Order: sequence, then C-alpha cells, then structure tokens
Amino acid sequence: MSFNTLSKTADPHRWINLAAKSPSGGNSQPWNIVVEKNEGCFIFTLSISAEYAEKPSVMDLDGSASVVALGTFAFSLQVAAAQDGYILTETNYLNSDSYWDCSVYLRFTPGQSHSLIGPTWLIKRRTHREKLSNERIKSETIDCFRDIAESQSLRFQYFPHPPTSLLKNLYPLEEYRWQNRKFLDSLLSEISFSKTKNPQERKIWVSDLSITPVQKFFLYLVHRFSMLRLFFKLGAAKPVSSDNFYPLIANSGGLIFLSVIQNNFQNIFQFGQALQQIWLLAESQNIGVQPFSQSLVYYNSKKHPLNEEIQQFEKNRFELNAVQISQLHSIDLNHFTLGLRVGYFSD
Ligand SMILES: Cc1cc2nc3c(=O)[nH]c(=O)nc-3n(C[C@H](O)[C@H](O)[C@H](O)COP(=O)(O)O)c2cc1C
Repeated sequence: MSFNTLSKTADPHRWINLAAKSPSGGNSQPWNIVVEKNEGCFIFTLSISAEYAEKPSVMDLDGSASVVALGTFAFSLQVAAAQDGYILTETNYLNSDSYWDCSVYLRFTPGQSHSLIGPTWLIKRRTHREKLSNERIKSETIDCFRDIAESQSLRFQYFPHPPTSLLKNLYPLEEYRWQNRKFLDSLLSEISFSKTKNPQERKIWVSDLSITPVQKFFLYLVHRFSMLRLFFKLGAAKPVSSDNFYPLIANSGGLIFLSVIQNNFQNIFQFGQALQQIWLLAESQNIGVQPFSQSLVYYNSKKHPLNEEIQQFEKNRFELNAVQISQLHSIDLNHFTLGLRVGYFSD
C-alpha cells in the first residue's frame, strides 16, 4: 500500500488506516491512494499500486481482484468518513483499456448519513475459515444482502444446501488450484506455518485450513522443499484440496454467489463495495464470511500467460464445469464471480 496526502488534518489518515483493514485477495492490499483537500471536501483517488501490478497474483492476472479490493477499501472509507460527518457525494471513474491503469475519484463532502453502519465493525471484520453453524441464514438477512448486491447492479444467489451438481463442478477448480504449479506456489506463499497464529503476519495460518495434522505436515514439507510440489501435480493434491473444500461447506450455512453483470472497472469496483457492505452487515448479525474463490481459478485460467500452461484437456474440463454451472445454477463464471461461505458463529 502507498499513499500521498496534501492535507494537514489527521482525519483522512484515520479513514485510510481503518480502510486498510479491508479484505483483499491474498491480503495483497494493492491500493494506491492520493488524497487532496478542496473547498472543505476530501477527494480520494484510488488505483492499483504499480508495485503490485508488476507482479500480480495468479488469481488476479488482469487486476480484477485488485479492483474488488479498491471497492472494499472505498466502502470502508465511507463508513470511517461518516463517523467524522462526511458523506460520499461523487464517484467518477477514469477508465483505461487495462484495469491496472484505471482509477476512481471519490469526493467526500461534510454532511450526515444515517444509512451507513458503525465504524467499529471495520476493525472487527475478518475472514472466517473455521467451522460455522449449518443453520440456514435468516431470510430477512438474505433479503438485505440481496438488496445491497442489486443496488450495485450485481447478481446474487444463496444456496443454503449447495446441490451436489454445483459442488461437483466447482471442486475440480479447487483441486486444480493445488495441482497447478503457479496456483500452488501462490497459495503456499499465502500460508503461514508458524507454531502460533500471528495476526501481524497477514497470512492464512495453516491450522485455520480444514486439513488433518498429517496433511498439515505434508503441506509444510511441500512448502519447504519445492521439489515435492511435483507430488501435488501427480495426485497428492486430492486429499488436501478435498478436505479444504467439502467439510468447510458442510460446516456452514451455505454459499452465496455474487457476480457482475458486465466485466468492467465500474462494475467490479461496485462489486467490492457491495462485498464489504455485506461482510460488515453479516458480522453485525453474528455471521462469518469466507470468500470461496474457485470461480477465480476459472476466470484466471483464461488469461494470458497462465492460459498457455493449461493443457487442452483441462481447458475442456473447465469449460464443461462452467457450462454445467451456468446451465444448472445460472452462475456465469465468465463474469467476475466470487463464492462466499457463510454461517452463524457456532460458539
Ligand atoms: C477477491 C478475494 C478472494 C479471496 N479468496 C479467498 C479464499 O479463496 N480463501 C480464503 O480463505 N480467503 C480468501 N479471501 C480473504 C482474504 O484472504 C482476506 O480478506 C485477507 O487475507 C485479509 O485477512 P482477514 O480477513 O483475516 O483480515 C479473499 C478475499 C478477496 C477480496
């Protein structure tokens, strides 16, 4: 993260510090922030940092996941600004051929907003990878989530008990994430193998994965000795990937799917805003959220240069998975999509 500020007051720094706790894929925090003060207003310009753009994650080859992160950041700014009596009055998009070069201007003007939720939840929000209750989410809550999504022109679906046909078509994408060398390298770089959980480390703690102690040890060896990654390609990925998929879904109140109607900077940015709003609202209702990003494996498998590494039979298999998911469950993985595992906290 990098930012410049011309303002003398501390307020926008507080907003930025709060917003920097927003979720980003792989906790990459890829935002670049410029803030100016103009006639009593604060104008923020958000774009993807050049540093991250030089070496993006394989789950983010065209910058879409980073644009989502700009949106989650922007929504957090709105909540923090509302605390200081500022509201977002103008949003302008500066488009370009590539998401890496797009930016968005946000103008905050003094004023009161009664529709935003409290800022302390910004601090409390986190990714819930643990066991969640498999009780169905209350329909009033789902309706609120749907309203948030639809107000940002997104598609919203909730599967309290995801059908087998959906899981069977999603799972190969998860398995591939552990088999393919680039996806695996990226995944391993996100995992922390420290003995105790260290929140400063900004990584997924290995014990938070839904895998057995033996698998955990094997994963450690694969992380430590990169030659062993070959075993994952040859079939050893199956037990780990399957344990990190099926039990998590069984131990939850189901899956939500959020998708854009069109792949473009504005819609994907709005996706991020809605994601953060839904996530914060979920936490306030005692509901944990964990992004389930198999859809991003499909989305990124189509992007250069990863595309060349993917064998023809895998491409065909992925296409078949995507066609079935679209025909049977009306989720179009060609549009930027994210699954969200949700559920009431069980303790
Ligand atoms: C686009 C996107 C994709 C993500 N994919 C996953 C995922 O597949 N699995 C997971 O456990 N967390 C996923 N996350 C959550 C991030 O890892 C998490 O937000 C970030 O590491 C911050 O950690 P915290 O939520 O614990 O503060 C994703 C987040 C975003 C925004």
